[in-house]
Amino acid sequence: MAFPPNIILVGFMGSGKTSTGKELAGILGLSFCDMDQWIEGQTGKKVHEIFADEGEAYFREQEGKAVRFFALQEQMVVATGGGAWTNQTHRELLLRSGWCLWLQVSPEYAWARVKGNLLQRPLLAGAADPLSELRKKMGERDTLYSLAQRAIDTDGKTPRDVALEIAEIFLKEKPFGSPPRQE
Ligand code: S3P
Repeated sequence: MAFPPNIILVGFMGSGKTSTGKELAGILGLSFCDMDQWIEGQTGKKVHEIFADEGEAYFREQEGKAVRFFALQEQMVVATGGGAWTNQTHRELLLRSGWCLWLQVSPEYAWARVKGNLLQRPLLAGAADPLSELRKKMGERDTLYSLAQRAIDTDGKTPRDVALEIAEIFLKEKPFGSPPRQE
């Protein structure tokens, strides 16, 4: 297996998985991939169009394909979609394929990040009160996100700050051990 396996960012919408993942990949010299963008590339549709045209169940199937694909990759920083981690089978696969980090965010900070582009967030866009819906969904999911190997608080931090914090932990704690020696 190539060193290191994947670093996988999980967490709620608006926790900064994509922007932090790009920063982190740059810092560590790894490649970056966003699961939702991968699904958009495979289907030729935006996530909100998939929800509108095919429905959530179809989107979750595509998410399953993405999880299976990324579980086979190595040396990659992967930003998951907020719901990918909530499926037990997908979660177990992600846990086996890399170091899974929960980017923890409060409802207030998540709302500040998502409220400007609600149309891209099909789970919130249809709700009569999107902020209450966000709080409710986050409340339902946080116990699952807490099953990740580590939680990183992101409130009040820039994606660059969070990425540097993760890189420091990565270098200090060596979650994958040390790189194999070249003979
Ligand atoms: C979802 C989160 C979104 C996207 C889809 C469903 C969710 O990704 O996958 O709208 O279930 O929480 P982000 O977390 O990147 O916004």
